[in-house]
Parts: sequence; structure tokens; C-alpha cells
Amino acid sequence: MSTVNFPDGFLWGAATAAYQIEGAAQEGGRTPSIWDTFARTPGKVHHGDTGDIACDHYHRWEQDLDLVASLGLGGYRLSLAWPRLQPNGRGPLVQHVVDHYKRVLDGLRERDVVPMVTLYHWDLPQDLEDEGGWTARSTAERFGDYSEQVARALGDDVPYWVTLNEPYCSSFLGYLEGRHAPGVRSMAAAVAASHHLMLGHGRALQALRGARVAGEVGITLNLSSSWPANDDPASIAAAKRVDGRENRWFLDPLLRGSYPADMVELQSVATDMSCVRDGDLAAISAPLDFLGINYYERHFVSPNPDDPRGWIKQPDAGPLTDGGIGIHPDGLREVLVRVATDYTDLPLYVTENGAAFADYVDPEGAVDDVERVDFLDGHFRATAQAIEQGADVRGYFVWSLMDNFEWAEGYSKRFGIVYVDYRTQERIPKRSALWYRDVVRANAVGG
Ligand code: NOJ
Repeated sequence: MSTVNFPDGFLWGAATAAYQIEGAAQEGGRTPSIWDTFARTPGKVHHGDTGDIACDHYHRWEQDLDLVASLGLGGYRLSLAWPRLQPNGRGPLVQHVVDHYKRVLDGLRERDVVPMVTLYHWDLPQDLEDEGGWTARSTAERFGDYSEQVARALGDDVPYWVTLNEPYCSSFLGYLEGRHAPGVRSMAAAVAASHHLMLGHGRALQALRGARVAGEVGITLNLSSSWPANDDPASIAAAKRVDGRENRWFLDPLLRGSYPADMVELQSVATDMSCVRDGDLAAISAPLDFLGINYYERHFVSPNPDDPRGWIKQPDAGPLTDGGIGIHPDGLREVLVRVATDYTDLPLYVTENGAAFADYVDPEGAVDDVERVDFLDGHFRATAQAIEQGADVRGYFVWSLMDNFEWAEGYSKRFGIVYVDYRTQERIPKRSALWYRDVVRANAVGG
């Protein structure tokens, strides 16, 4: 295959999230988050797995930063644990936890790795959920307060801030489908949660700007590519609804200052949108420095009158990842070019992309994940094409640095470029990690 070069300064990295890797769940005054509660609810997480130990990264962070450096990565995206920094979701930050994250950020700088820090990657303090969670407006205000304190404590140490990770998942998977914490199933709750998450983003942005942090500020949305399963007008309309729910419901308020009218009509069958108050959309659409995009899926959609949503996603013909997700690198190009064409000329970062495969340690002690090498190769090339077609993509973070707690799938799905033996906590760079090191070094794929 031909060699494809990336622009000078392209930021190659890998991503993780606190609850998925840190473990140390009962340590240092950390209080439970909605994921601790959800994981302890029978039947919610595969095998009853929890993040109690995970990759034990809270204790092994130095060794893990050495791993990042040994792969030559230029960037590392991590998230801060809200219930660790601010137990119960109110009051002052816990100083020894601030110090911990300061050491991590210093450690990255010493290794010439640029940190990108996510303020909220799904670990809402359970106490706030008990007061309504994201369905309550007060949670957006609490998140603003937490963000302000973090900005004051770590403001000089973070070059890139991400306010929220994937508000679609927090709201629609958490409060409508119930597949994620807190496991609620209500359209009214999901719509309110989505708005309060976006308002929380607006409040965090105000807090970071107010604290005059040195770094750039963005948000990460998971965007999908949504295709009609055939050219029947009903399929086209169904695909538009999926796009509306997963993409436009978040892109529009953020970058156009309004919710998409067709979706307001559809979703307001179950809710009256009274959660939206004067000034909210102005806060939500305040200027950003960059947009983070996570890409995992292309959908093929048909109408389905038996489903309250009116659509069904058709099974993908393959090839598939271990999670049964179809592999469509071109969907990433589509998503990046679409955002650049229809929404914004902001710099874009692929803040996550990756896949689970059935990785195992072979008799020689190696993890030969050729499928992941192919997967990443395809998605890197798609990113390069998007850049050629005008999308200002500045960097790419593989999900994930290492295997970790994959939410409702527990430890059964391995997304890492580094294999984790959960019994011994040994880390084994997979073939994809070594291949990625060469890509980063060359700033090119196929070189
Ligand atoms: C997106 C989420 O941000 C991340 O936490 C998750 O593990 C990956 N998708 C893979 O499903």
C-alpha cells in the first residue's frame, strides 16, 4: 500500500478514562460514582465486573507513563475522577488528589508527552445522582463548580481541556436505554439529561475561561455515520432520525445555538423541553478552541413501526470487531468532512477511535493483533483523506492505550494497543502498539 504522510506537528496519542483504568476505588476518600453503583447492580455489567481494581493505574501510573513514552506518543488523553477530586460532588477539592494529578501531568511533560484532560468521562458522584443526576439542572451547576476548582488547581498544567466525553452516551444510553449508568429508561429523563449535560459543558467552559487557563478548550462528541439501508424514502427518513439523535442533537446546540427542529418535535412527544431556559443556548454555543470527535460506527437504518423510535439498525454484513461493530474506516472520513463542511472550521481532533478484538497471549508471549493493525491503518488513511478534503484535523488518539474496564462489557472486550493481564497487572505491548510507534516516528502510515 502507498505511503500517506500527515501534516507536520500532527499529534499522535492514545486515550484512557479514569474509571476504566484507575482502580483504587475505595482509596483516599473517593466516594462512589454512578458506575460503582451500576456495576454492583446484578445483571448490569458482564460477569459482575467492577472498576474496583481495573488496571490499578492509580498506583502504577509512572510505569504506564513510561509505556506511553516508550511508544513515542506525542499525546495522551486522560480523564480526572470527579468522585476522587471532589467526593460527593460538592465542597473543596481533595489536596492529595490534586497533587496526584499534578504529578501525572508533570510526569507527562517530563516525558515530552502532551496531555489532553477530560473533566467528565461518565463517573458522576453517586450523591449527585441521588439528587436527580443529569436530569436535574443543579448537576450542571455542580459540574461548573467542580470545573472552576479544577481550573484553579491545574490551570497552568493542561494544554488541552475536554469538558465532556460523549454526552450522547451519558444521556441516551444512561437515561433512555438504561444500558449505561445510572440505568434509567425514560425519554423525558434522557432529553433533560442531554440538555443539562450540554449546559454543564457551557458552565465548565465559562469556568475555564474565567480562570484564564493557558490551554485550549473543547468537548468530545461521539459522531456516527448514518446511512439508509436502502433508497426507500422511509429508510432515508429513519437514517435522518438516527443522525438527529446521535449527531445533530449535540452538534447543533454547540455550533449553531439551537436544537434541531425535527428532533425537538420527535423527542418532545415525551417531554416539553421546559428544561431549556433563557441564556442556556448562548452558554452552550460559546466559542470553543477545538472539537473532539470519537468515531466508532456507521449505521444502516430501516424504518420499524414496531419500535417507539421508529427505526432499526440493520445488522452489519461485516467484517466485524469483537463487539460486533462493522468496520467502516470511510465513515470516519465522512464524519470529519461533514463537520468541517456543515458546522465549523475549528481544529478537529479524533479524540478516540479503536476496536476490540479477541486478543490473546500466544505461546511465545506475544499478542499478534493483526486485525487491529489493519483497522488502524484504514482509519489513519481515512483521516488523511479527510484532511485532503479540507477537514482541519490536528491529531488522533487511539482508544485505548491499554485494555481496560469496557463499561457494560466489563473486562470481556479488549480495546488496548497494550495487553493487560488483569491477574498479574503485566502490560504487554501488542503488535499494534509496536506498529503504531513506527507510524508516529514516521508521521506517516505505510512508510
Ligand atoms: C467511547 C468511550 O468514550 C470509551 O470510554 C469506551 O471505552 C470506548 N468508546 C469503547 O467503547
